[in-house]
Amino acid sequence: DRGSMPTRRLTADDAGVAEAGALLRAGRLVAIPTETVYGLGADAGSPAAVAAIYAAKERPRFNPLIAHLPDLAGARREGAFGTDALRLAEAFWPGPLTLVVPVAAGGRVCDLARAGLPSVALRVPASPLARAVLAAAGRPVAAPSANRSGQVSPTQADHVLGDLDGRIAAVLDGGPCPVGVESTIVACLSGDPVLLRPGGVSREALEAVLGRRLATPTAPAGAAPVAPGLLASHYAPRAAVRLDATEVRPGEAVLLFGGAAPRGLDSALLALNLSPAGDLGQAAARLFAYLRRLDAAGPATIAVAPIPEAGLGEAIRDRLARAAAPR
Ligand code: TXA
Ligand code: MG
Repeated sequence: DRGSMPTRRLTADDAGVAEAGALLRAGRLVAIPTETVYGLGADAGSPAAVAAIYAAKERPRFNPLIAHLPDLAGARREGAFGTDALRLAEAFWPGPLTLVVPVAAGGRVCDLARAGLPSVALRVPASPLARAVLAAAGRPVAAPSANRSGQVSPTQADHVLGDLDGRIAAVLDGGPCPVGVESTIVACLSGDPVLLRPGGVSREALEAVLGRRLATPTAPAGAAPVAPGLLASHYAPRAAVRLDATEVRPGEAVLLFGGAAPRGLDSALLALNLSPAGDLGQAAARLFAYLRRLDAAGPATIAVAPIPEAGLGEAIRDRLARAAAPR
């Protein structure tokens, strides 16, 4: 898909869905809206199509992809679900939860999509458009976020085109993504379920269904990452990011949350409020678009007001911490 062909913008109707499905069946790359972020979709069973994802994103091949299915029955053909995985799938699918489970015998997700791992990451998205495309494709669809590796994830079709125009066959324009942060990833392998990435389903909701606390990964320094996307500089704007800022320094761009106005706000280059009412769901939905807008104003630093840790706050703080990581 690399080369001079412009990327087509498909409409969110039956014709657009049918075209997206046909392109995916033909091994092409199509960005599709999900409730979390736009995904860069390709046939998960085709090593050539999956290789094209890594190339278009400039993503390292050791970082495995999530395979998307239209329903739990489809997911169970790809992965082996134990008691915990089944309980979580039944409670939260379709929805913003990804489960990492052992590969099932006869699973179609290719080795390259799994980065050679004996496990597979599976997700049944809630977005009706995404599910319609998955049904039209008739196969598991590998889809990382549709941005160049290391950039902020796209929550609008224009964000996708800004990063990937000319590198992919099409983007299905479904408008802004309602959740706005990526799916929560839980590994259900041997032993207790492990929270690999906070996301659109809160830790509290998962723990209520499991009836116990979720473990967090414990990787010794320098070891191969359990979920490589979890590490270091990821979701990075051009500007430096300063967290938990209680005062604004002259020339900074500012990401606000809630009603409090930090000292020095008058000297800000630009200030955007994720949610004046302090609603974490609204803040998550706006997070990546606001980071892009603040970055586009060209500040050296984006100052971020304190954001609570509860509920979706854990995912928001996680993405902001990655944006602030040294690079
Ligand atoms: O909301 C989402 O999850 C979006 C939409 C498009 O569905 N997708 C997404 O994909 O965020 P991506 O590629 O940006 O993040 C996938 C994460 C990576 O951090 C990867 O390391 C992890 O899933 N992952 C995939 N397979 C894995 C496996 N077998 N074991 C552990 N981690 C895995
Ligand atoms: Mg990503």
